[in-house]
Amino acid sequence: MGLERITVFGLGRVGLIMAVCLAKRGYEVLGFDVDSNLVERLQDGETPFYEPNLSEYLAAALQKNRFTATTDPSINSRSDLAYISVGTPSLADGTIDLSYVEEAAKTIGRTLRDSRQHQLVVVKSTVTPGTARNLIKPALERESKRSAGTDFAVCSNPEFLREGNAIHDTEFPDRIVIGSDDPAAIEKLEKLYREFHGAQFPPIIRTSFENAELTKYTNNAFLATKVSFINCIAGIAERIPHADVKTVAEGIGLDGRIGSKFLNAGLGWGGSCFPKDLSALVSLSKKIGYDAELIAAAVSTNRKQPHKAVELAKQALGSLAEKQIAVLGLSFKPETDDMREAVSIPIINGLLAEGAKVTVWDPEAIVEARQIFGDRIEYATGALECLEQADCCILATEWVQFKKLRPETFIEKMREPVVIDGRRLYDPSEFRAAGIRFRAVGLGPD
Ligand code: UGA
Repeated sequence: MGLERITVFGLGRVGLIMAVCLAKRGYEVLGFDVDSNLVERLQDGETPFYEPNLSEYLAAALQKNRFTATTDPSINSRSDLAYISVGTPSLADGTIDLSYVEEAAKTIGRTLRDSRQHQLVVVKSTVTPGTARNLIKPALERESKRSAGTDFAVCSNPEFLREGNAIHDTEFPDRIVIGSDDPAAIEKLEKLYREFHGAQFPPIIRTSFENAELTKYTNNAFLATKVSFINCIAGIAERIPHADVKTVAEGIGLDGRIGSKFLNAGLGWGGSCFPKDLSALVSLSKKIGYDAELIAAAVSTNRKQPHKAVELAKQALGSLAEKQIAVLGLSFKPETDDMREAVSIPIINGLLAEGAKVTVWDPEAIVEARQIFGDRIEYATGALECLEQADCCILATEWVQFKKLRPETFIEKMREPVVIDGRRLYDPSEFRAAGIRFRAVGLGPD
C-alpha cells in the first residue's frame, strides 16, 4: 500500500465511520478527538451512537490493532495522511461555524512543525466554498511554519454518506470528488481510493477546492429541495378529493429525468446535515450578493411540515386537551438514534402545547428523547405499549418494525383507532376498510 498510516481528526459520525472502514481495509488508523470520554469509550469498543454494523467494525479494528483512539495529537506527525472530519455546526444566524475546522487545521499544523513527513491533509468536514484555500491552508502553513505544496498538501474531499447506511456508503460510494490546487495531491488521494475500492472504484471528479466544497452543498440542497417539492405537492393533494401524492410521486418518479428517490412525502426532513447545510448555503449566498430564493423556500416549506401532524390530529379529534396521543418514531429517520432537528420534536411540543398527553416509542432514540423531553412525556417500552389506550397515533418515523403493525392491532390497543401516517407507511384503503379513521400526509379526502 502507498499511504499506510492515517490520522482522523474528529471521531464523530463521519470520522469514526471513515476510521473503521479504513482499518477494515488494512490501514493503520489513528483517531484523534478532544473528548477524552469518547476516546476512552472507543478504546473499550463502545460505539457512541447507533449505526448498523459499526460495533462489529470497531471491535474488529481494535482486535487487529489497526485503530487507536487518542487525545494526543502528536501521534499525527508520522502519518501519511490526516483527515479533518470535525463538525461544522450552524451559528445562531444560520451561518457556518468553522471554528472546529480551524482548530483542527492548527493542531495538525503544529504536529507537522518538526515532521519530515510530506503529509496529505484531507478536508472531509462540510465547509463553505473557499474554506480549504483561505482558512485551512493558511492555518496549516502558519502553525507548521512550512509551505503547502512543498512540505505538505491539501485536498478537499466531501463525503456523501447517509446515516443508517454510513458503512455501506463509505465502501460503495456513487462517486468520489477531490478538489485541490495541487494536482499531485489529487493523484495521491485518488491512489488511496483506488486501493481502497479496488474493482468497485466509482466515477471520480478531480477539480478545484471550491467546486468540491460547492458540490457537497449542492447535493444536499438538491435532495432537500426535492423532498420539499413533493411535500408541497402533498399539501395540494390533501385538498383534492381522491388524490394521493404517493401515486403522483410514483408517476413522476418513473420519468428517468426525475427519478423515484427522495420523493417520499412526509412530515419533513431533519438531521444534522440538510437543515444546517441549506441554512449555510442561503447565508453564504446572501453574503456574496445572491438571493437563493429557491433554497430558502425549501427551508420554509420544511419548517411548516411537522405542524401538519398536529393539525391532522386536531381535525380528527377536535380539541387535543387531555387526549392520549401515541407518537411512533422519534429519530430523524430510521436506523439511527439521532434526533438532531428531528420532526418529532416540534410535533411533540405542538401536542403538549395543545394540552395532549404524549406517549412515545422509538427502537433506538428513547435515551436521546429523555434528554430532550424529560418527564413532560411518557416513554413506552415497545410499539404495542405505546398504542395502549391512545386516542390517536402519529407515525413520525418509518422504522421497518412499524410497517409490520396490522390495522387490527391499532383497533385492539387504542381507545379510538385514529391513525395519522406521517410517513406514508401504510395502505390507506386497508386501514380504512378495517375501520380505522386514517389520515396521511398527501392523501386527499375520500
Ligand atoms: C444526507 C445526505 O443524503 C447524504 O448524502 C449526506 O452525506 C449527509 O446528509 C451529510 O451531509 O452528511 P442524512 O442526513 O443521513 O444524509 O439523511 P437522508 O437519508 O438524506 O435523509 C434526510 C432527511 O430527509 C430525513 O429526515 C428523511 O426522513 C427525509 N426524507 C428523505 C424524506 O422526508 N423523504 C425522502 O424521500 C427522503
